[in-house]
Amino acid sequence: MKSHAYFNKKIVPLEEAKVSVMTHALNYGTACFEGIRGNWNAEKEEIYIFRMAEHYERLERSSKLMRIEMTHTVEELCNITIELIKKSDCYEDVYIRPLTYKSGLVIGVRVHNIDDDLCIYVAPFGPYLDLELGAKCCTSKWRRVSDTMMPIQAKACGLYINSALAKTYACESGFDEAILLTSNGYVSDGSGENIFAVINGQLVTPPPSDDILIGITRDSVITLAREELGIETVERSITRSELYCADESFLTGTAAHLTPVVEVDHNKLGDGRIGKITRQLQKLYMDIELGKNPKYLHWLTPVYGK
Ligand SMILES: Cc1ncc(COP(=O)(O)O)c(C=O)c1O
Repeated sequence: MKSHAYFNKKIVPLEEAKVSVMTHALNYGTACFEGIRGNWNAEKEEIYIFRMAEHYERLERSSKLMRIEMTHTVEELCNITIELIKKSDCYEDVYIRPLTYKSGLVIGVRVHNIDDDLCIYVAPFGPYLDLELGAKCCTSKWRRVSDTMMPIQAKACGLYINSALAKTYACESGFDEAILLTSNGYVSDGSGENIFAVINGQLVTPPPSDDILIGITRDSVITLAREELGIETVERSITRSELYCADESFLTGTAAHLTPVVEVDHNKLGDGRIGKITRQLQKLYMDIELGKNPKYLHWLTPVYGK
């Protein structure tokens, strides 16, 4: 694969997409991003981009919250992305990273009166967490940023300092992933994932009021649980000890797909093996991502149109 980027309104080789050290976004984190997956189906020789328009719609909302003007429509962004992947000679799993950012070469802590720009790049991207063994997680010493501190529905770059510190703390402590608690101590999000748990026979997940990012994978899994397994997901606050006692748990996210959680803070969940509902949802979700379920083809955009 030869990665390319859409930069300054042109498609260029990735190494040519460069910004100045004075770029406002680099100095103050004033940028928004998306993570979109294109999944390679070797049998069909096709890349299926998962829920691309929904990701660009979220980028529009994020940018609005950060006062970054979008100069492209969702449809234009989708078309550019397809062109970019084709130009990159991509025949493997790919990560698509759009960024809207304060591009002005300006010193000053603010978001108004600063030029904006957009870039999109693509890069090869395999599995993020172990989908088979599952993740051993810790609850992080770093609490999730609250909506009273920053607009957390903006997938803003600066916000990810919180996630990055939590992830590093988890990895350096021997865990695979961090689960962040709200400032009130309820379960919120993984460093880059939403979390679900099976508690007393109910599938539960934290509500938006617990400072989660409203994930596109989360929405897909809630739909699949309801439509395919007849299980309604209950959105409610979850305490840490409830999570310790859960029968099953899993993380959802573009990078993580649907990754089982097998331990939290050294407490084995259920019998310590991947649970039945988790397995069923994981299989459903991953088949859909690869274009193997005709009922959900409307969630996918094929790149090569085969
Ligand atoms: C904090 C956080 N929560 C949840 C998610 C999952 O969102 P999605 O499923 O849209 O990738 C992400 C990933 O972007 C994230 O960074």
